Amino acid sequence: MPVFKRLLLYMKPYWWRIMLAALASSAYGGLEGAFAYMVEPLLKKIFMTKDMVIFSFLPLAIILIFVFRAICRYVNDYFMSTAAQLAVQDVRNEIFRKNIVLDLKFFYRNQTGSLMSRIVNDVAVMQNGVAEMVSGIFRDTIGLVSLLGVIFYRDWQLAIISILVIPFTIYPANILGKKIKLTARKGQEEAGYFANILQETLSGIKIVKAFSLEDTMTKQFAQANLNYYNFTRKMIKYNALSSPIMEVITSFGIAAVIFFGGSKVMSNKMTAPEFFSFITAMALVYSPLKKLISAYSTAQRCIGASERVFEIIDATPEIIDSPDGHTLTQEDSKIEFKNVFFKYQDDYILDDVSLVAEKGQMVALVGPSGGGKSTLVSLIARFFDTNEGQVLIGTHNVRDISKESLMNHIALVDQETILFHDTIANNIRYGKPGATEEEINRAAQAAYAHDFIMDMPQGYQTSIGDRGVRLSGGQRQRLCIARAILKNAPILILDEATSALDTESEQMVQKALDNLMVARTTFVIAHRLSTVINADKIVVLEKGKIVESGSHKSLLENGGLYCRLCAQQFGKER
Ligand SMILES: Nc1ncnc2c1ncn2[C@@H]1O[C@H](COP(=O)(O)OP(=O)(O)O)[C@@H](O)[C@H]1O
Ligand SMILES: [Mg+2]
Repeated sequence: MPVFKRLLLYMKPYWWRIMLAALASSAYGGLEGAFAYMVEPLLKKIFMTKDMVIFSFLPLAIILIFVFRAICRYVNDYFMSTAAQLAVQDVRNEIFRKNIVLDLKFFYRNQTGSLMSRIVNDVAVMQNGVAEMVSGIFRDTIGLVSLLGVIFYRDWQLAIISILVIPFTIYPANILGKKIKLTARKGQEEAGYFANILQETLSGIKIVKAFSLEDTMTKQFAQANLNYYNFTRKMIKYNALSSPIMEVITSFGIAAVIFFGGSKVMSNKMTAPEFFSFITAMALVYSPLKKLISAYSTAQRCIGASERVFEIIDATPEIIDSPDGHTLTQEDSKIEFKNVFFKYQDDYILDDVSLVAEKGQMVALVGPSGGGKSTLVSLIARFFDTNEGQVLIGTHNVRDISKESLMNHIALVDQETILFHDTIANNIRYGKPGATEEEINRAAQAAYAHDFIMDMPQGYQTSIGDRGVRLSGGQRQRLCIARAILKNAPILILDEATSALDTESEQMVQKALDNLMVARTTFVIAHRLSTVINADKIVVLEKGKIVESGSHKSLLENGGLYCRLCAQQFGKER
């Protein structure tokens, strides 16, 4: 059971909690046996010798024993469950840490909602399972052993009769366990689907409303919810079946013991108090047995969820940081694509692309959308590896450059303006952790963001993102630009960085970007061709191939695709 072993390994750092809990549960389980054993001398003293002293102490003794038992139980449950929680907390941290280093392809393959569901739901199932399992396992095993001890001590023949039924409980428990594990896994997958619908609906709530998709989404959600219920129902069925089946099976043992034990008492081979002590122990024995069997089905459920969690922890990134990778210097900022082929799935998105951006040059990528422009620049930052060909920075293949150095070398303003739920200042500071307020201020000014930031209620300390102040598309873009300006890296990638700005602020931001581009190797992707006229080189990408490249003037003279695009845009604007 390797999954189970792995779970236990996670508990290892919390061994002292487990030892303490095990000690308490040994006392607890041992008391069960002692209690069953005591029935015989007590009954004898009270009913046969009518001992008044023992009788008057009895109520106090009973209360004391139960108080002690209660303390043991508390210590056991508390330390065992906290150990389990801490272990699972480590699992959750590890899954997050692993998840975040996986490459982009992994995230495109897996749905966000379903990944979230693994980190939240599956880990919760794991957590409950581990807590329930380990807290019960010592207590019930020791209880079982001590009670079996009493049974065998009282009468080994009757004991054998009473435990004959135990093997018969194993077969149904095993079958139910397997079914529970399978159902749990499928149920968790369903939970992933509905988490995904939830995530998409909430993040796209505006579109849902604009297209009156409320009913459609509600139906989809209800269906996914129902599918989940169907698996949960099966799980409930298997869990609910476990106790009744056990009780019916153990009833055979009880019946046999009453019959054979009763006849022993009647033929005076056993005293009545002995018989009652035996019956007490036996009645108590089935309870930990039942609990152990139900812990077994919990374990199966837990293993189903753990498998899904470990799948992510074990996922291997395709893009591996080279441990002794090069560290780039300020000089390394020539970028070269050498016969690059790239595909996400089956079709080549980049088809034999060769291109050089000399140090300090500005290269513009233009062309119809879907042509592969964003894909091309994402290869510079090694978000993906090429299928064939090389991407070089300076003289180094990006595959040989250490990831940290590569990321320090590149500032990216993406077409998706990602801001986090944090203050404006901190959102800009992601560009250079540890930047002073002064530096942030200057970056914001250069990105023409300072004025609108000062108009916000708390200025730079205003919270933005999910629960904070809402920003316009243009404002978001200016913050992203400020972040890139602050980073001050030798290579700059602007992927439609000004597309959401109005013409006036675009002109201002364009000036800021022009300043920023000085002495940096820059890739600019832009739809508005007016912004790229001054580029050192304009590259026209269509269906993954470079169809033209050159200066604005030479391309116009060529009369190709670029010329047609210009005619369309400038014609319109005129
Ligand atoms: N994550 C992805 N998975 C699969 N295909 C993708 C992915 N991203 C982009 N594509 C495809 O790659 C092609 C180029 O996309 P992209 O580089 O974004 O073009 P552009 O930026 O020029 O508009 C498109 O056909 C698009 O469908
Ligand atoms: Mg794009």
